[in-house]
Amino acid sequence: MRFDLFRVVVLSMMCFVFGTSGFAQGDAERRAAKLGLGMNLSYLDNFWKGTKEKHFSDFAKPEEAAKRQKMLADIAKAGFKTVRIPICFSAWMELKRPYEWDNPDALKMADSFIKWALDDGLNVVIDLHHPEFDRSVPEADNPERIVNLWVRIAERYKNTDPERVFFELRNEPHNITAEAWRWQAEQIIKNVREIAPKHTLIVGFHEWNGRKEMIESKPFDDPNIIYTFHYYAPFVFTHQGAGWAGDSMKDLRDIAFPYSADRKIKVPQSAKGTWTENQINDYKRDSDPKYMYAELKAAKDWSLKNKVPIFLGEFGSFSQYASMEDRCRHADTVYSALGKLDIPSAWWEWDGGFNMFDKGTDQISPCMRKAIDSYFAK
Ligand code: BGC
Repeated sequence: MRFDLFRVVVLSMMCFVFGTSGFAQGDAERRAAKLGLGMNLSYLDNFWKGTKEKHFSDFAKPEEAAKRQKMLADIAKAGFKTVRIPICFSAWMELKRPYEWDNPDALKMADSFIKWALDDGLNVVIDLHHPEFDRSVPEADNPERIVNLWVRIAERYKNTDPERVFFELRNEPHNITAEAWRWQAEQIIKNVREIAPKHTLIVGFHEWNGRKEMIESKPFDDPNIIYTFHYYAPFVFTHQGAGWAGDSMKDLRDIAFPYSADRKIKVPQSAKGTWTENQINDYKRDSDPKYMYAELKAAKDWSLKNKVPIFLGEFGSFSQYASMEDRCRHADTVYSALGKLDIPSAWWEWDGGFNMFDKGTDQISPCMRKAIDSYFAK
C-alpha cells in the first residue's frame, strides 16, 4: 500500500515535469506552445528604401511609423497571437568598431513597435533582418559586427518580459556555409546569454532558414531555443512575378494552385534552362497538398526526434500576379497541415505584397479567413 502510494506520487511528479510529450517541458517548449498563429509586420526591414551612402541608416521614417500602431492593433484584433517584427538594426549601427548605435530615432521606432505590440497582448519576435544588406555593403556582415549587433540588441531589450519577447538571431542566413553559420550562431548565443539569460532565442539554419537544412542540422547546446524555418513551397507559386527572387521568376503569372492540367504553366523565355524551369517541371508533385503535408511533417518529426520546439517564421504568397482563389487554396493547404502538426507560425506579411486583404482594402479576404480557420480544424 505504502509502495503504491509512493509510485503514484512519483508518477504524478513525472507527468508534471515531462508533460505528455515524453520529455521535460522547458521554457522554450512552453513558450512555443503559446506562439500559435502569428503575423509578420514588415517596414522596419525595408533597408533598400534608404541610401547606400548612409549605409541605409535613413530608410525608416519616424513620421511613417505611427500608422503601424493601428496595424499592430488590427493584427491582434484579427486573432493573431504573435507578431514577428523584422528589423534591420544593422542600418543603425556603425560599420566599424566600436560599433556604436548611430541612429537613436530609428531605434526609438523599434522600441515603440515592440511596446505597442505588447500593449495589444501580442507575443513579439524581435527578428534581426537583412544585417548584410543583401551584401551591398561588404563590411556589414563581418561576424564580429553581427555578434556586436546582438550584444547591443540584447542590452536594449533584456528587461522585456521573457515569457512574451523572443530574440530571433538572424533572418535567412545565406551565402554562408553550414559550419560558418553554426560558428557565428554559437558566438551570438554565448554573448546574448550573458546579457539575457531568460529569453528564448529563435534560431534558423543556413540557406535562407531552409527546412531541409534544419532537418539536416543538429540543435545547439542551449536548451532555451525554438528552431525556425521558412516554407515558401512551391516557390514558383509563392514567388510568381517576384523580381527580387531572380530574373527567371519575374515573368510567371496566374499559376494554378494546386496543379491543374487545364492551366498548365508555360515556361517563359526568361526561365528556360534555369532552376525555375525545373521547378515548373516538378510543379504537379510539389503543389500536391499531400506532398506539402509530408514536407511539413518531416520538420515536425525532426522537432520530436530532437525534443526541441519549432516555429515556421515565414510563409505566404506574392499577391501581384496570383488570383486570390489560388492563394487561399495554398494558404489552406499550409494552415491545415500546421494545425494537424501543431506547428506555430507567422504569415508573411500583414500589409506588403504578400498581404491577405481583398484588393484595395485592409480587410482579410473571406477565403483567407477560412484558410486561417482550417488551422483549428485539426
Ligand atoms: C524578405 C522580404 C521578402 C519575403 C518573401 C523576406 O524574408 O525580407 O523582403 O518579401 O522574404 O520573399
